[in-house]
Amino acid sequence: MCKIRKFLRACGMVFSDDYYLRPSPDEIRWIQNLLGGLEASDLGIVDGEIENGNGDHRQGIKYIHLYDCNEFSMGVFCLPTGATIPLHDHPGMTVLSRVLYGSLSVNAYDWIKPPDSNHPNFGLVSSTFNDKICDSTSPASVLYPRSGGNIHSVTALTPCGFLDVLTPPYSDAKGRPSTYYSEIPIPFLPGFVILEREVGVPKNLSVTSAPYNGPELFLHSAISMAETREENVYLPKLTEKAAERCEEMVKFMEKVAYKNVEERSIILCSTKYKNVTRAVAMAGQ
Ligand SMILES: [Fe+2]
Repeated sequence: MCKIRKFLRACGMVFSDDYYLRPSPDEIRWIQNLLGGLEASDLGIVDGEIENGNGDHRQGIKYIHLYDCNEFSMGVFCLPTGATIPLHDHPGMTVLSRVLYGSLSVNAYDWIKPPDSNHPNFGLVSSTFNDKICDSTSPASVLYPRSGGNIHSVTALTPCGFLDVLTPPYSDAKGRPSTYYSEIPIPFLPGFVILEREVGVPKNLSVTSAPYNGPELFLHSAISMAETREENVYLPKLTEKAAERCEEMVKFMEKVAYKNVEERSIILCSTKYKNVTRAVAMAGQ
Protein backbone atom coordinates (compact mmCIF):
# COMPACT_ATOMS: atom_id res chain seq x y z
CA MET A 1 0.00 0.00 0.00
CA CYS A 2 1.33 3.49 -0.76
CA LYS A 3 2.42 5.51 2.26
CA ILE A 4 -0.28 8.19 2.14
CA ARG A 5 -3.10 5.60 1.95
CA LYS A 6 -1.52 3.69 4.81
CA PHE A 7 -1.31 6.89 6.82
CA LEU A 8 -4.94 7.76 6.09
CA ARG A 9 -6.12 4.32 7.20
CA ALA A 10 -4.10 4.58 10.42
CA CYS A 11 -5.72 7.96 11.16
CA GLY A 12 -9.14 6.48 10.46
CA MET A 13 -8.50 3.74 13.00
CA VAL A 14 -7.16 5.91 15.76
CA PHE A 15 -8.99 9.23 15.66
CA SER A 16 -12.41 9.95 17.08
CA ASP A 17 -14.26 13.16 17.86
CA ASP A 18 -15.66 11.43 20.94
CA TYR A 19 -14.13 13.03 24.03
CA TYR A 20 -14.03 9.67 25.85
CA LEU A 21 -12.18 7.94 23.05
CA ARG A 22 -9.33 10.36 22.38
CA PRO A 23 -6.14 8.66 21.12
CA SER A 24 -3.76 7.18 23.67
CA PRO A 25 -0.11 8.42 23.84
CA ASP A 26 0.99 5.20 22.10
CA GLU A 27 -1.47 5.76 19.27
CA ILE A 28 -0.27 9.34 18.82
CA ARG A 29 3.33 8.13 18.66
CA TRP A 30 2.37 5.54 16.04
CA ILE A 31 0.65 8.16 13.88
CA GLN A 32 3.57 10.57 14.43
CA ASN A 33 6.05 7.93 13.20
CA LEU A 34 3.98 7.20 10.10
CA LEU A 35 3.67 10.94 9.38
CA GLY A 36 7.44 11.32 9.83
CA GLY A 37 7.95 8.82 7.01
CA LEU A 38 5.88 10.78 4.48
CA GLU A 39 7.62 12.82 1.79
CA ALA A 40 6.35 15.45 -0.64
CA SER A 41 6.56 12.97 -3.52
CA ASP A 42 4.18 10.60 -1.67
CA LEU A 43 1.51 13.30 -2.13
CA GLY A 44 2.33 14.05 -5.75
CA ILE A 45 4.22 17.25 -4.87
CA VAL A 46 7.31 17.54 -7.06
CA ASP A 47 10.15 19.89 -6.16
CA GLY A 48 7.76 21.88 -3.98
CA GLU A 49 6.18 23.51 -7.01
CA ILE A 50 2.44 24.08 -6.79
CA GLU A 51 0.89 24.96 -10.10
CA ASN A 52 -2.59 25.71 -11.35
CA GLY A 53 -4.13 23.97 -14.33
CA ASN A 54 -2.45 26.37 -16.79
CA GLY A 55 1.02 25.71 -15.47
CA ASP A 56 1.34 29.17 -13.89
CA HIS A 57 3.19 29.37 -10.61
CA ARG A 58 0.76 31.23 -8.39
CA GLN A 59 1.73 33.50 -5.57
CA GLY A 60 0.20 33.46 -2.11
CA ILE A 61 -0.63 30.63 0.29
CA LYS A 62 -2.13 27.47 -1.19
CA TYR A 63 -4.05 24.69 0.54
CA ILE A 64 -4.14 21.18 -0.88
CA HIS A 65 -7.12 19.38 0.61
CA LEU A 66 -6.43 15.69 1.19
CA TYR A 67 -9.26 14.33 3.31
CA ASP A 68 -11.81 15.29 5.93
CA CYS A 69 -14.48 13.56 7.97
CA ASN A 70 -16.12 14.11 11.38
CA GLU A 71 -13.08 12.71 13.17
CA PHE A 72 -10.15 14.43 11.43
CA SER A 73 -9.04 16.60 8.52
CA MET A 74 -5.82 16.47 6.54
CA GLY A 75 -4.21 18.90 4.10
CA VAL A 76 -1.01 20.61 2.97
CA PHE A 77 -0.31 24.35 3.27
CA CYS A 78 2.17 25.65 0.68
CA LEU A 79 3.77 29.05 1.40
CA PRO A 80 6.03 31.25 -0.73
CA THR A 81 9.07 32.80 0.98
CA GLY A 82 8.06 35.38 3.58
CA ALA A 83 4.36 34.37 3.71
CA THR A 84 2.85 34.12 7.20
CA ILE A 85 -0.12 32.26 8.62
CA PRO A 86 -1.04 34.61 11.49
CA LEU A 87 -1.56 33.64 15.12
CA HIS A 88 -4.48 31.18 15.41
CA ASP A 89 -5.54 28.39 17.74
CA HIS A 90 -6.88 24.83 17.47
CA PRO A 91 -9.59 24.67 20.16
CA GLY A 92 -9.94 21.22 21.75
CA MET A 93 -7.80 19.65 19.03
CA THR A 94 -4.71 17.51 18.69
CA VAL A 95 -2.65 18.56 15.66
CA LEU A 96 0.14 16.59 13.98
CA SER A 97 2.37 18.41 11.47
CA ARG A 98 5.25 17.60 9.19
CA VAL A 99 7.28 19.90 6.93
CA LEU A 100 7.42 18.23 3.50
CA TYR A 101 9.79 20.68 1.78
CA GLY A 102 11.50 24.01 2.47
CA SER A 103 11.88 25.59 5.90
CA LEU A 104 9.70 27.70 8.17
CA SER A 105 9.73 29.44 11.52
CA VAL A 106 7.06 28.93 14.22
CA ASN A 107 6.08 31.05 17.22
CA ALA A 108 3.78 29.28 19.67
CA TYR A 109 1.85 29.84 22.88
CA ASP A 110 -0.37 27.81 25.18
CA TRP A 111 -3.32 29.05 27.19
CA ILE A 112 -2.90 29.96 30.82
CA LYS A 113 -6.43 31.33 30.85
CA PRO A 114 -8.43 31.16 27.61
CA PRO A 115 -11.14 33.75 26.88
CA ASP A 116 -14.20 33.15 29.04
CA SER A 117 -17.67 34.62 29.34
CA ASN A 118 -16.40 37.52 31.50
CA HIS A 119 -13.70 38.48 28.98
CA PRO A 120 -14.81 36.82 25.74
CA ASN A 121 -12.16 38.53 23.60
CA PHE A 122 -9.06 38.27 25.78
CA GLY A 123 -6.98 35.41 27.14
CA LEU A 124 -3.62 34.96 28.84
CA VAL A 125 -0.96 32.74 27.27
CA SER A 126 2.62 31.73 27.95
CA SER A 127 5.24 31.41 25.25
CA THR A 128 5.96 27.77 24.33
CA PHE A 129 8.65 28.49 21.75
CA ASN A 130 9.96 31.41 19.67
CA ASP A 131 11.24 31.30 16.10
CA LYS A 132 11.53 27.52 16.10
CA ILE A 133 12.93 26.53 12.70
CA CYS A 134 11.57 23.38 11.07
CA ASP A 135 12.33 21.70 7.74
CA SER A 136 11.89 18.33 6.08
CA THR A 137 14.55 16.80 8.33
CA SER A 138 12.58 17.76 11.47
CA PRO A 139 10.48 15.05 13.12
CA ALA A 140 6.71 15.28 12.85
CA SER A 141 5.39 17.51 15.62
CA VAL A 142 2.31 17.17 17.79
CA LEU A 143 0.36 19.69 19.86
CA TYR A 144 -2.56 19.19 22.23
CA PRO A 145 -5.50 21.36 23.37
CA ARG A 146 -3.54 22.79 26.32
CA SER A 147 0.12 22.11 25.49
CA GLY A 148 2.71 21.84 22.73
CA GLY A 149 1.97 25.26 21.20
CA ASN A 150 -1.77 25.14 20.44
CA ILE A 151 -1.77 28.83 19.44
CA HIS A 152 0.83 29.59 16.79
CA SER A 153 1.93 31.53 13.75
CA VAL A 154 4.03 30.21 10.87
CA THR A 155 6.39 32.14 8.57
CA ALA A 156 8.03 30.66 5.47
CA LEU A 157 11.83 31.11 5.40
CA THR A 158 11.94 29.53 1.91
CA PRO A 159 9.13 28.21 -0.30
CA CYS A 160 7.74 25.47 1.95
CA GLY A 161 4.91 23.03 2.45
CA PHE A 162 3.65 21.30 5.57
CA LEU A 163 1.04 18.64 6.15
CA ASP A 164 -1.42 19.22 9.00
CA VAL A 165 -3.68 16.58 10.54
CA LEU A 166 -6.33 18.08 12.83
CA THR A 167 -8.31 15.82 15.14
CA PRO A 168 -11.09 16.57 15.63
CA PRO A 169 -11.34 19.13 12.79
CA TYR A 170 -12.54 22.72 13.00
CA SER A 171 -16.31 22.90 13.43
CA ASP A 172 -18.31 26.02 14.30
CA ALA A 173 -21.30 23.81 15.16
CA LYS A 174 -19.28 21.78 17.68
CA GLY A 175 -17.63 24.80 19.32
CA ARG A 176 -14.30 24.54 17.48
CA PRO A 177 -14.19 27.70 15.35
CA SER A 178 -11.12 28.98 13.52
CA THR A 179 -10.01 32.12 15.38
CA TYR A 180 -7.13 34.54 14.79
CA TYR A 181 -5.47 36.61 17.51
CA SER A 182 -3.30 39.66 17.96
CA GLU A 183 -0.72 39.93 20.74
CA ILE A 184 -0.72 42.51 23.52
CA PRO A 185 2.66 42.40 25.34
CA ILE A 186 2.81 42.47 29.14
CA PRO A 187 5.98 44.54 29.80
CA PHE A 188 6.42 43.43 33.41
CA LEU A 189 5.83 39.72 32.68
CA PRO A 190 8.34 38.32 30.13
CA GLY A 191 7.19 35.16 28.37
CA PHE A 192 3.50 35.95 28.77
CA VAL A 193 1.16 37.97 26.53
CA ILE A 194 -2.52 38.78 26.34
CA LEU A 195 -4.20 37.56 23.16
CA GLU A 196 -7.06 39.52 21.68
CA ARG A 197 -9.49 37.79 19.34
CA GLU A 198 -9.64 39.26 15.86
CA VAL A 199 -12.93 39.51 14.03
CA GLY A 200 -12.92 37.27 10.97
CA VAL A 201 -9.88 36.46 8.87
CA PRO A 202 -6.93 38.93 8.90
CA LYS A 203 -6.97 41.21 5.86
CA ASN A 204 -3.47 40.27 4.75
CA LEU A 205 -4.20 36.52 4.79
CA SER A 206 -5.15 34.94 1.50
CA VAL A 207 -5.38 31.18 1.09
CA THR A 208 -6.54 29.58 -2.14
CA SER A 209 -6.90 25.93 -3.00
CA ALA A 210 -4.49 23.95 -5.14
CA PRO A 211 -5.19 20.55 -6.70
CA TYR A 212 -4.10 17.30 -5.06
CA ASN A 213 -2.13 15.18 -7.53
CA GLY A 214 -1.26 12.20 -5.32
CA PRO A 215 -2.81 8.73 -5.07
CA GLU A 216 -6.59 8.66 -4.73
CA LEU A 217 -7.63 8.66 -1.09
CA PHE A 218 -10.54 6.65 0.31
CA LEU A 219 -10.71 5.60 3.92
CA HIS A 220 -12.71 2.39 3.54
CA SER A 221 -12.59 1.68 -0.18
CA ALA A 222 -12.35 -1.80 -1.66
CA ILE A 223 -8.90 -0.82 -2.99
CA SER A 224 -7.46 0.17 0.37
CA MET A 225 -8.99 -2.87 2.13
CA ALA A 226 -7.44 -5.19 -0.46
CA GLU A 227 -4.08 -3.39 -0.27
CA THR A 228 -4.11 -3.61 3.49
CA ARG A 229 -4.62 -7.37 3.38
CA GLU A 230 -1.56 -7.72 1.14
CA GLU A 231 0.64 -5.52 3.31
CA ASN A 232 3.19 -7.60 5.22
CA VAL A 233 4.45 -4.96 7.63
CA TYR A 234 1.33 -2.94 8.17
CA LEU A 235 -1.08 -5.81 8.81
CA PRO A 236 0.56 -7.09 12.02
CA LYS A 237 0.62 -3.52 13.32
CA LEU A 238 -3.03 -3.07 12.40
CA THR A 239 -3.89 -6.33 14.18
CA GLU A 240 -1.90 -5.26 17.22
CA LYS A 241 -3.61 -1.87 17.36
CA ALA A 242 -7.03 -3.43 16.85
CA ALA A 243 -6.43 -5.84 19.73
CA GLU A 244 -5.25 -3.00 21.98
CA ARG A 245 -8.24 -0.87 21.12
CA CYS A 246 -10.64 -3.78 21.65
CA GLU A 247 -9.18 -4.46 25.07
CA GLU A 248 -9.44 -0.80 25.97
CA MET A 249 -12.99 -0.62 24.65
CA VAL A 250 -14.07 -3.70 26.63
CA LYS A 251 -12.56 -2.26 29.82
CA PHE A 252 -14.30 1.01 29.25
CA MET A 253 -17.62 -0.65 28.49
CA GLU A 254 -17.33 -2.76 31.63
CA LYS A 255 -17.03 0.47 33.60
CA VAL A 256 -20.20 1.99 32.19
CA ALA A 257 -22.24 -1.15 31.42
CA TYR A 258 -24.45 -1.04 34.48
CA LYS A 259 -24.11 2.62 35.33
CA ASN A 260 -25.14 4.72 32.39
CA VAL A 261 -27.23 3.31 29.58
CA GLU A 262 -27.02 6.52 27.57
CA GLU A 263 -23.23 6.59 27.65
CA ARG A 264 -23.09 2.93 26.66
CA SER A 265 -25.24 3.56 23.61
CA ILE A 266 -23.03 6.52 22.63
CA ILE A 267 -19.97 4.24 22.63
CA LEU A 268 -21.69 1.56 20.56
CA CYS A 269 -22.65 4.17 17.96
CA SER A 270 -19.23 5.85 17.89
CA THR A 271 -17.14 5.81 14.74
CA LYS A 272 -14.15 4.60 16.68
CA TYR A 273 -16.03 1.56 17.98
CA LYS A 274 -17.05 0.78 14.41
CA ASN A 275 -13.46 1.25 13.23
CA VAL A 276 -12.15 -1.12 15.89
CA THR A 277 -14.64 -3.84 15.05
CA ARG A 278 -13.97 -3.36 11.33
CA ALA A 279 -10.21 -3.58 11.89
CA VAL A 280 -10.56 -6.74 13.98
CA ALA A 281 -12.74 -8.36 11.31
CA MET A 282 -10.26 -7.38 8.60
CA ALA A 283 -7.23 -8.57 10.56
CA GLY A 284 -8.89 -11.93 11.06
CA GLN A 285 -9.31 -12.56 7.34
FE1 LIG B 1 -2.26 25.77 13.02
